[in-house]
Amino acid sequence: MNLGLEGKSALVLAASKGLGRASALALAQEGARVMIGARDVVCLEQTAAELRELTGADVRAFPVDVTHPAQCEAIHQAAVHAFGPVEILVNNAGGPPFGPFESFDDEVWHKALELNLMSTVRFARLVLPGMKAARRGRIVNIVSLSTKSVLPGSVLSTAGRLGIIGMAKLLSDEVAAFNITVNNVASGMILTDRVRQTSLRTRLDQGMSEPEALDDIARSIPARRVGRPDELGALVAFLASERAAYITGVTIPVDGGMVRSIL
Ligand SMILES: NC(=O)c1ccc[n+]([C@@H]2O[C@H](COP(=O)([O-])OP(=O)(O)OC[C@H]3O[C@@H](n4cnc5c(N)ncnc54)[C@H](OP(=O)(O)O)[C@@H]3O)[C@@H](O)[C@H]2O)c1
Repeated sequence: MNLGLEGKSALVLAASKGLGRASALALAQEGARVMIGARDVVCLEQTAAELRELTGADVRAFPVDVTHPAQCEAIHQAAVHAFGPVEILVNNAGGPPFGPFESFDDEVWHKALELNLMSTVRFARLVLPGMKAARRGRIVNIVSLSTKSVLPGSVLSTAGRLGIIGMAKLLSDEVAAFNITVNNVASGMILTDRVRQTSLRTRLDQGMSEPEALDDIARSIPARRVGRPDELGALVAFLASERAAYITGVTIPVDGGMVRSIL
């Protein structure tokens, strides 16, 4: 299937590793020109070089902490300068800490909401004027399966990401007539550094080997395995494509069947 992404300009946040990197890779494989951002400039530049090497696409890097409004503006400007108005925005960020509700004070809540909800709001606001002028655009937000199926300890993540989903639905309504779509991809258990440092780490600390720990995680997944980042990247590229022009305002899980709700 030709996704029609050749030459399109994309901005992918939190893309030096994991799900963001996989999304950038999938877009670059389809011929999009991609600006990637993250905080650690060494890792970011290395990823950009790898993506160029793997795809031959024009992939550039610009350091950004998505919790800093001025840095958000700077990377958006850099993307526009490099490739023209952003046609595809992939919102992504790190994840907030896990823990019980009573362990988090206002400061932690504010940080978590800045990281996930406010960064998404700000980047959408930055790209919309260009997308509306061009009368086309794609916004894809990476969220978590915890927005569909309860995950204990994920109160910061779940609250912020449900805000993203509500925002995305209302925004999708307002911009649909401009041929701009706004969708969310809900990540299930996909093997990235974050999962290595959380779900996997807990099991390794209990004395399991890595294969045993992965098997243990996979027990609650109908597909009986943890997902690969490229399996999420493929959906991001599809939602960013011309082919997905009539899909908007929705949240699609990539989870091997893990979600327990029917609707
Ligand atoms: N993997 C899963 O199974 C899963 C499941 C549900 C939800 N999620 C969510 O999906 C998102 C991506 O997760 P992942 O698994 O891909 O994590 P990851 O492998 O740890 O990668 C996180 C990426 O985000 C960047 N980042 C972190 N904080 C940032 C900030 N403030 N500004 C800019 N970039 C930042 C990191 O680079 P720097 O540190 O250099 O900035 C890195 O490139 C997270 O929000 C996570 O909670 C993941």
